[in-house]
Amino acid sequence: MKRTPLVAGNWKMNGGQSLVASMATALAEYQGVADVVVCPPFPYLASAREQLPAAIGLGAQNVSDQAEGAFTGEVAASMLAEAGCGYVIIGHSERRALYAESDAQIADKFAQVQAAGLIPVLCVGETLAEREAGNTDAVVCGQLQAVVDAVGVAAFARAVVAYEPVWAIGTGEEASPEIAQEVHAALKRAARKEIDTVALRVLYGGSVNADNANALMRMPDVDGVLVGGASLEALGFRQLCAQVAGSV
Ligand code: 13P
Repeated sequence: MKRTPLVAGNWKMNGGQSLVASMATALAEYQGVADVVVCPPFPYLASAREQLPAAIGLGAQNVSDQAEGAFTGEVAASMLAEAGCGYVIIGHSERRALYAESDAQIADKFAQVQAAGLIPVLCVGETLAEREAGNTDAVVCGQLQAVVDAVGVAAFARAVVAYEPVWAIGTGEEASPEIAQEVHAALKRAARKEIDTVALRVLYGGSVNADNANALMRMPDVDGVLVGGASLEALGFRQLCAQVAGSV
């Protein structure tokens, strides 16, 4: 059964107050069935919460793996909750690759996010070399399993997983709907191996736009999309949300 679709816009280190304002205007009358979450950089979270309609979710792009204390420059999950976030992206491939985040750290972040009452959006994905070596399922299921081992699979009833193949991020070459379906099904099988009651929502991310979202959403195990570049223009993002909402 298809779950309520989710569209999350990850601004990465882009945007500013003017994008917050134009996004709030563009989404003011959004009434689609898809859940929509906007994830601006930390400094804009509070004003985004003030300006966005209450029905639009707010997410952060990162979080500390610690609860509080002497960790200069870090941001705790409880602070994100106070700023009005409902979601936190963790384990994005840019953080894994550029900031050397380990599976263990990502598992700690996952636990911190849930302890603050927020929903982690756990990103997994293979590189092109890993895909070409036939290791896609092993890599993505391994990234999932590392968190399952730390927090237990039942925790995934309050989490979202995003499959973001590294080779598809920012390249304009999205995974085919069939590839996305295959990997999403593998992730769900892996999660269900231990407990079959997990209603896991798996998003696809990597060069999603208003033109390709529909075909991806037609796949039975694609429950939504995590959008980078195409979430940086407010009207285009609203159109994408409408496409996804119209796919159910
Ligand atoms: P693009 O949509 O720009 O390819 O980025 C995807 C992504 O990394 C979202 O988290």
